[in-house]
Amino acid sequence: MAFDFPHILSMSNLSREAMEFIFETTDRFREIAGRPIKKVPALRGKTVINLFFENSTRTRTSFEIAGKRLSADVINISKSASSASKGESLVDTAKNLEAMSPDILVVRHGSAGAPLLLSKMLKARIINAGDGAHEHPTQALLDLLTIRDHKKNIAGLHVAIVGDIAHSRVARSNMIALRTFGAKVTVVGPKSLIPQEIKSFGVGVSYDLAKCIDQFDVIMMLRIQNERLGLTPFPSLREYSNFYGLNLNLLKCAKPDVVIMHPGPVNRGVEVAPEVADAPYSLILDQVKNGVAVRMALLYLLGGGENL
Ligand code: NCD
Repeated sequence: MAFDFPHILSMSNLSREAMEFIFETTDRFREIAGRPIKKVPALRGKTVINLFFENSTRTRTSFEIAGKRLSADVINISKSASSASKGESLVDTAKNLEAMSPDILVVRHGSAGAPLLLSKMLKARIINAGDGAHEHPTQALLDLLTIRDHKKNIAGLHVAIVGDIAHSRVARSNMIALRTFGAKVTVVGPKSLIPQEIKSFGVGVSYDLAKCIDQFDVIMMLRIQNERLGLTPFPSLREYSNFYGLNLNLLKCAKPDVVIMHPGPVNRGVEVAPEVADAPYSLILDQVKNGVAVRMALLYLLGGGENL
């Protein structure tokens, strides 16, 4: 298949075939992490700018490592260390960066649609690394790959996404991607954290985790997006954790081969008990590991790489 997507902005733009192609490309990059010299010349001479207007540990580092392992020149810009903190607009910042001829801009921004806007204005390829509560396509791709590694087929699986669905770009991108692959998805959380239009995503809804936990093959836990909340949507964190936190006791009722996922950062003891986060059925660190390979594949495909 010819991969003719100029940008990676949303999971809704990607067909199942395109995602399969990304996974096939990812498979070619996985073993590089185990080599003594973790580098291939595929993107030598290309410039990747990570433009992060929101905090990040995993995603930014993952893109930086991915670019460097492909031999690209990688530059990181964060909001606090850039002229955005002096009042420069996103568009002005991006146009100035473009004057320096980058090939790919990886963009994280607090406003939904910021990467799309840049893709219309600039010549560089754009990858959405999370835009507000809208989408986080590279996270969904690495999540799907991780599920496939452990469950073989995604079609027919029943996947729960638990927590702050309303403010989660991870939930949104995963709902689209999982449905594209034929999984059944149920979102679980308090009414105040599940948007009214959720049914348009073709997913089921539950407000009671204990009642439905026995149905799921995969349970994806989410952090409460405090930075996007206005009023507190539940009486206390302890009450939230009692109803929607995943602990060993609750897991006794789950399927014996259930796997647990979380995009990170984990708030231990809130959405996931420490014993669950560290258990063998927790795939949290597999997700992080797969993230590097998936992002290598995407940079490679968008950067027109050769010489693997
Ligand atoms: C997520 C994000 O930033 O959307 N984290 C990530 O990219 N791994 C989830 C979160 O912050 O809760």
